[in-house]
Order: sequence, then C-alpha cells, then structure tokens
Amino acid sequence: MTGRPGSGVRVSRRRALGLLGLGTAAVTVGAAGWATLGTTGTTGTPRPSSGLPTGEPLAAPTELVSSRGRLAVDLDVAPGASLGGHPASAWGYNGTSPGPTLRVRPGDEIAVRLRNGLDRPTNLHAHGLRVSPQGNSDNPFIHIAPGEAFDYRIAVPDGHPAGTFWYHPHAHGHAADQLFAGLAGALVVDAAGEPPVSQDRVLLITDTTLDTGGPAAATPATRMVGRQGELLLLNGQHQPVVHAAAGELLRWRLINATTSRTLTLHLDAHPVTRIALDGITLPAATTGDTVRLAPGNRTDVLVRPDRPGTFPLTATTELRHAMGMMGGPTAGGQTEVLARLATDGAARPPSPLPTFPAGPAPDAGATSGARRLAFTMGMSGGMGSDGQGMSFGFDGRAFDPRRTDQAVALGAVEEWTVTNPTPTAHPFHLHAWPFEVLADSAGTPTTDTLQDVVLVPAGGWVRLRIPFTANPGRSVYHCHILDHEDAGMMATIAVG
Ligand code: C2O
Ligand code: CU
Repeated sequence: MTGRPGSGVRVSRRRALGLLGLGTAAVTVGAAGWATLGTTGTTGTPRPSSGLPTGEPLAAPTELVSSRGRLAVDLDVAPGASLGGHPASAWGYNGTSPGPTLRVRPGDEIAVRLRNGLDRPTNLHAHGLRVSPQGNSDNPFIHIAPGEAFDYRIAVPDGHPAGTFWYHPHAHGHAADQLFAGLAGALVVDAAGEPPVSQDRVLLITDTTLDTGGPAAATPATRMVGRQGELLLLNGQHQPVVHAAAGELLRWRLINATTSRTLTLHLDAHPVTRIALDGITLPAATTGDTVRLAPGNRTDVLVRPDRPGTFPLTATTELRHAMGMMGGPTAGGQTEVLARLATDGAARPPSPLPTFPAGPAPDAGATSGARRLAFTMGMSGGMGSDGQGMSFGFDGRAFDPRRTDQAVALGAVEEWTVTNPTPTAHPFHLHAWPFEVLADSAGTPTTDTLQDVVLVPAGGWVRLRIPFTANPGRSVYHCHILDHEDAGMMATIAVG
C-alpha cells in the first residue's frame, strides 16, 4: 500500500478463465482491509498468470465497412464471448471482445440493430462522434431491456473529421460492469486523401478479471477507486506480437477502453509520432517517447521500425488514490507489457514520415458565456471501510436523468472551468460537443485541436472552450472512470 509502509500482506488467488489455463492473481490487502487491485506485472516477463496465451500475432477485430453511404449491422450483446479467438467467459458483440470494427465515411448513416442478450439493460454510445444525441441517434438515455432489440440510426455529417472513435455500453448503473466484461469496439471514420501506410491497425486496450462464470464482480472499495482488471488486453489478446519489416510505416489507432486506468505507453527503442488525438488529426505531429491516454482517449501514432529485433510496448498505469494520502483504496502504479513489436529485415536509415491533413481547427469565434463546475466526492452518512456510503457527482449532486443541469443556447461558444477538489484525477468527457483545452492546473501542453476526454488533475482544474454550434439536443457529461459515472458522477446538458 503506497503511503502506508508495512501494512500489506500478499494473498494469491486462482481464477479460471473459462479457458484451459488457470490464472493466478496477486491482491495486496492492507491492514484496514483495502485492496490494491491489479496485476503486479513485471516489465518484459510474460506473466503465466493470465490463462490466455501470450506471443500470438496481433489479431484485427472483424471489420464491417460501409458501402454506398450506409453501414447496416446487427450487434448482438451477449455473455460467453471469445478473447483473441480463444473461448472465454467475456461479454462481447457478435461473440467477440472487442466487437467488430465499424468503418464509415463522413456523410454515411450507421444503422445498428442492437440486441440485448444480457440479463440487464444495455445501450450503445458512439464515443466521440459529433452526431445528434436525440431520438434513436447517439442517445445515452435509451435503455434496452434484456431480450429486447433497438434500431439505432446515426447520421454522420458530411464534414465529420476522419479518425478513431469507439463504441461501448452506456446504461447508467451498468456501464462499468459491461465495459469491464469486454463490451467495446472501434469505430473508424475514413476519409480520402490520407497518405498510404503499410499497416493501419486498431489497437484497442481493455482490462478485465474473469471468474469461471464470467466477469468478476466489483466491491464498493474497488468502485470507489475505479476497478482494474488482472488482465491488460490488446484487441482481446494478452501480450500479442505486431510483426513488421524494418522500414515499414505503421499506423496504430490506440484506444484506451479500460474502465479506470490512465495509461502511459512506451515503445522500446522507437520514438512514436502522434498524428491524431480523440479522432482529430493534429495540425502538427509530435514525436516523443511516450503517449498518455486517460480512459476514453484515443491517439493515432506512426511508427517506422528501422532495425530487426523485438521491442516491448509497455503500459504504465497511473497510481490512483480514492481518498488521498490518508489511506483508502489505491490502484495502478504498475508497468506491464501490452504487446511486442517484432521486426525483421535489414536495418535502414530513418526516413521522413508523411504529413497527414489536419482535422478541423477549433472555432476561433468570440466566447459567449462561462460556467464553472466541479467533480464532487463526499461521504454520505457513515462511510464504512469498504467504501460504501461514498457519493459521487457534479456540484454536489448525483446524476438524475430528469434534471437538466446545464442549459446552453445552440450556437454558443462557452468557456468552462472544470474543477476537481477531490484527491483523485477524473477524466472529464462530454458527448456530442468536443472541446478545446485552453489550459490546466498541471501546465500540460495544449494541442490546438478539439478533444472529447481530458484528465482533470487531483486538486486542480482544466479550462475548456466548447463550441455548441451543432447537434441540438440533450445529452451528458461525466467521469470516464465508469465506476464513478455509474455511482452518479454524471450530469445532463440540453443544447437548443
Ligand atoms: Cu465513452 Cu459517455 O462515454
Ligand atoms: Cu471519476
């Protein structure tokens, strides 16, 4: 337990995954009964603990591609889904976790018949798409009952940016359980005129813990800090291998679809060039050693291996405290191997990378209003040492779908200051209306583009500029640690 030396004892548990192998997971239990969640992954060592094979070639989820302006698909939500082609007890879309990759173009209609084969409500959120939040479009208030089907019709506007988006369930009270169980998929908007690459891959990151009968249940303490899985997966696989030849140009569409983890990714011996954030191509690519993704964030990177070898892609999970240094549950803090890049062929001198056409720039018009809002966590009544009794919300209020928390005039461009007086960072996500980050309390460099998830530092703030110039309707903003969202850290907004 960080900050409480000497208080931890280590306990091992074995879990069956519905696979041939058995999983051994380490759980550290502190003196006060708090559990530190997650694997104690050692960089560079394949863990025998997962029950899933490691070292398999990275698989691509099935691609469903629009034609003649339309993508009509059936998505069946059900338990018993496979992981990376191996039978497992995950939950999936059409039998797999992640679900199929949906590929569309600006101007297309996405017609999804979602069938709920679970024993609880679900729905579908097209995360990051700039589409209508109303009716049977990207409407988070719809709940589809067990056994029912629902027909979504999502019109992707003509001018929609090309990039990497994703979909996942959003039924309040059930979102974290369902994402953690495996329900997520990529949604790519393609556009003409992008430079060719030799590999264009979705790299969708999830984490999960599976018991024999299905996804492990979360305890109140794990919900408080945001649950974390024992297995960190890439396209449903444990530590797969990306094969490439030296000199090939790779585009990786990285999606952080974990329930709670803020990840810093690092590829051994290779800088990565970030070309897009949250589905929008950046005006200027940036090259560095790491990329950081809060839950819900995406980034597209270019990698050009220049020599033969095997290079781990590692993921470091930021440490989270639910209650600050005074104790309480923590999670994260570890570095794990997410995948390996295996290259062959002769070494080559580095060659320049192509330039990708920039996505739409943030609106430069005058700001017409300002608001302040705050993430709030409090103790409601007597809180037990299991985290029960903790309340989550915005501005001291828990989510109520009937109440409208922010009413905004269509056409307004507002400046929002989102403050976080709590001792843990929260990823802020707003549906339908992406925002420009003007500044944050940590001094994070800005990107001069629009994004849809931003991490608000513990005890800090972010300042956002939000153009509400399209997509009238009612929707939500929330914490993308989905355990917090399910516990009430979500609010409504009506634009019209
Ligand atoms: Cu990715 Cu409202 O969610
Ligand atoms: Cu949160």
